[in-house]
Amino acid sequence: MSEAALPPGVERVLFTEEEIAARITHVAHKISLRYRDARSLKLIGVLKGSVFFLTALTRAITIPVKIDFLAISSFSDKARGSGLVRIAKDLDDPIEDEDVLLVEDIVDTGLTSRYLLQTLAGRGPNSLGICTLLDRTSRRLVQVPVEFSCFEIPDRFVVGFGLDHKQLYRNLGYIAVMNPEKGH
Ligand code: PRP
Repeated sequence: MSEAALPPGVERVLFTEEEIAARITHVAHKISLRYRDARSLKLIGVLKGSVFFLTALTRAITIPVKIDFLAISSFSDKARGSGLVRIAKDLDDPIEDEDVLLVEDIVDTGLTSRYLLQTLAGRGPNSLGICTLLDRTSRRLVQVPVEFSCFEIPDRFVVGFGLDHKQLYRNLGYIAVMNPEKGH
């Protein structure tokens, strides 16, 4: 795509729609193989960013799969930096004895995922893992086990395919580096 066609503030495309679709198909295949004998596989999306990835991923998974969602909110920006978050919308159903994959659009510091893994582990799932569209390991503050990841990304501000800047840009089909100072 020519730069002229990109929205304000969007500097360059990191991954095209085609590249994203191909990686998601690949990861969905790995998940379908890994959990082929699972009695109940459930993908849990963390609102809102992961919705786009979760729907594409579940469409490409070839074994029976359930979905559920949760939302978290921070007490404040400062609290978020310390990993202090709370569940603002809980799951609709229990996860006891299920094989659960937490689905994220991005794992960054790892604080959100660590909190959610700890919380969900207390509910008796048969297994618990993380599947993320983007992994930015250069910003990790705490180690979390990421079983499935589509792309490793550089330490840049990215938008698209669910990732936002001030709640906009989530609907871009591609993932792009953006300069937030020049955006909407
Ligand atoms: C993003 C992402 C993860 C979290 C990862 O959510 O969806 O939940 O940040 O960051 P961490 O590894 O540093 O904890 P965000 O707060 O942007 O909310 P959104 O999904 O509604 O955009």
